[in-house]
Amino acid sequence: MTAAIITVSDKGSRGERADTSGPKLAEMLTGNGWVIAYTAIVPDEREDIKAELIKCSDELKIDFIVTTGGTGFTKRDTTPEATMEIIERAAPGIAEHMRAESAKVTPSGILSRGVSGLRGDSLIVNVPGSVKAASECLGFILPAIEHAIVMLQSEATEH
Ligand code: MTE
Repeated sequence: MTAAIITVSDKGSRGERADTSGPKLAEMLTGNGWVIAYTAIVPDEREDIKAELIKCSDELKIDFIVTTGGTGFTKRDTTPEATMEIIERAAPGIAEHMRAESAKVTPSGILSRGVSGLRGDSLIVNVPGSVKAASECLGFILPAIEHAIVMLQSEATEH
């Protein structure tokens, strides 16, 4: 199964900060048998984020699209809004689980506004931006993701 990692960061996109979260997520996914088919770094601009998500889903047909960053409370944080604009169906349980588990690690765990949803044959999930938060959040949900993709891409309802 293929995965894409979209790092959302103003500084990262300008080359002013090295992207550590993207490579860490790639390492985790690769270690779990995923093929990293695409990576990108975009600024915290809603239209740029949407364009990357649509490209990964519609054009590149990537199974699992992870964004990292832009889920907090600053005025520039719009990854969840961009994602909500392009998903066709919500899959809130994934984001709910990430927040519930994150809150056990740190009280700030409830401050990520990340969302999760489906577009075509792709599952899209927002995780926070720091390498610690991003890797923790991916770790919380990864055990269920493969089954999610199988269900998403199956023709009929299966249990
Ligand atoms: N979730 C986990 N598991 N661990 C963390 O350290 N940090 C939080 C939160 N979620 C954190 C976490 C913090 S401090 C913020 S501000 C939000 O994620 C949003 O992060 P973002 O703006 O980088 O997306």
